[in-house]
Amino acid sequence: VYYYSMENLGLTAFDLSILIFVFAFLVLSLAVIVYCILELSSYIYTWFSFQAPYVPNGYEFVTEALNLAEVGSADVVADLGSGDGRVLLVALKDFKVSKALGVEKDFFQSVKSRMRLWWAVFRNHILPNSYVMRRGDFFDLDFSEATVVYLYLYPRALDQISVPLIARLKPGTRVVSCRYRFPDSSDALGLSFEKTVSLKDYSIFLYSVRSV
Ligand SMILES: C[S@@+](CC[C@H](N)C(=O)[O-])C[C@H]1O[C@@H](n2cnc3c(N)ncnc32)[C@H](O)[C@@H]1O
Repeated sequence: VYYYSMENLGLTAFDLSILIFVFAFLVLSLAVIVYCILELSSYIYTWFSFQAPYVPNGYEFVTEALNLAEVGSADVVADLGSGDGRVLLVALKDFKVSKALGVEKDFFQSVKSRMRLWWAVFRNHILPNSYVMRRGDFFDLDFSEATVVYLYLYPRALDQISVPLIARLKPGTRVVSCRYRFPDSSDALGLSFEKTVSLKDYSIFLYSVRSV
């Protein structure tokens, strides 16, 4: 019987540690490459298939948007097209909202956001029952319990969503839109423009739903 011991293979402990290092490096590089391919495919796929492509918002802009809407612990925040779940996490962790709702159509992003939120629960940063994360189309979701709706969508999507948004939300609900304004026609439908803030050439717009 031939044993594959280090001596029989002519390996020293140093050779073995080099081999382990090279193997770990290759596995890590492969994981990074696969992750980048999935991110890129997600961007391309969402660009062509959905109302807006997957472009995550910077954390400072998410915080600024939630500040503009004066989000607090009594609020239920909904992110329509929630990407990797960062808005839900910031709302729960930093703004201590009572509940966060997310809906994301892209499979990879919805898996990423679930993992992100599970990890935050595991680390005791948020409570397990404080969020609802769904994979699906925001046109099909009932988000009427939201008191604040966060959007980072393209103008064509804002145009399409304004009617269902106003129909489903209670008067007084704040709607915050990052980078893009709602079309002017949405005012006649019941969405009043309140104020805007700019940060590094990036504008955020706050609206409120009024009874019509
Ligand atoms: C610009 S990203 C914003 C991501 C996240 N809200 C943020 O601010 O970081 C827009 C997201 O909306 C998602 N999306 C587009 N149309 C959708 C739809 N009809 N239903 C659900 N999600 C949608 C895209 O897949 C993408 O992840």
